[in-house]
Amino acid sequence: MKGKEWYQADDVAQAYESKRFSRGGQLIDRREKRAVLDSLDPVADANILEIACGTGRFTAMLAEKGANIVGIDISDAMLAQGRRKARDNGVDDNLELLRGDAARLPFPDDHFDAVFAMRFFHLAETPGIFLTEMARVSNDIVFFDTFNHRSTRIIYNWLLPMGSHLYSRSQVKKLLSDANLSMVDDTHDFLFPYGFYRKIPNDLARGFRDVDKSLGDGDFGDALASVSYWTATVTTDSTTTTTDETDLETPQNTPDEAVTADD
Ligand SMILES: C[S@@+](CC[C@H](N)C(=O)[O-])C[C@H]1O[C@@H](n2cnc3c(N)ncnc32)[C@H](O)[C@@H]1O
Repeated sequence: MKGKEWYQADDVAQAYESKRFSRGGQLIDRREKRAVLDSLDPVADANILEIACGTGRFTAMLAEKGANIVGIDISDAMLAQGRRKARDNGVDDNLELLRGDAARLPFPDDHFDAVFAMRFFHLAETPGIFLTEMARVSNDIVFFDTFNHRSTRIIYNWLLPMGSHLYSRSQVKKLLSDANLSMVDDTHDFLFPYGFYRKIPNDLARGFRDVDKSLGDGDFGDALASVSYWTATVTTDSTTTTTDETDLETPQNTPDEAVTADD
């Protein structure tokens, strides 16, 4: 994984948030935080693990909201930014940031109520190993995002120095099923790529975001969205049965099926 090395550098870690979440990128930061909360709520008193927590954007937010939150990341440089943010926000006593590899999580089975990773799977060369580890240490929710193939992100994706894998829905569904996870929700957003928003001022970005949301409403938008948010639950015998039944009932012409057919 090139991203594993890329984010070790101090200058990369220091510039991480200002590069991505200033200007129009503020809208993306807000949307991602909303996605995390929608998926994990209620978070107060919940035991939550964030994989590849980086500079702690979500770790600090969840600590502020009363979660018992642990963040793990392979980069000391990114964690140093996260520790500083926690101190600045007065939540450094309410969270734990650990250096570690997402492929070998240092926790027992079923240890957390929810385990999530944002902006991580596009870096993963072995996503199945990571997802299986996330599923192992969660007793309920697993949540993550992916960047999608067949979206406007392909315009610049190949330029990214840290590497970036784009996913089809059928790939994600296979990963979930291989990790013994059942999907409970999938949400698709952003026809305009993230890279576009962060290049323009926030005021201008708001106008484009409104257009993006209205174009993205419905099957067409879902099929071409550049980002997907996936919420899954650890499969038990009864959820396995439910998932199989739901699959059988899925109409042939849903956007998922349309995309899957061509993958
Ligand atoms: C794009 S950043 C995302 C950070 C944070 N999740 C966010 O959304 O702001 C990707 C992060 O993945 C971390 N990472 C890469 N490979 C990892 C691995 N094998 N185990 C743990 N963290 C890893 C990097 O150090 C980096 O902090």
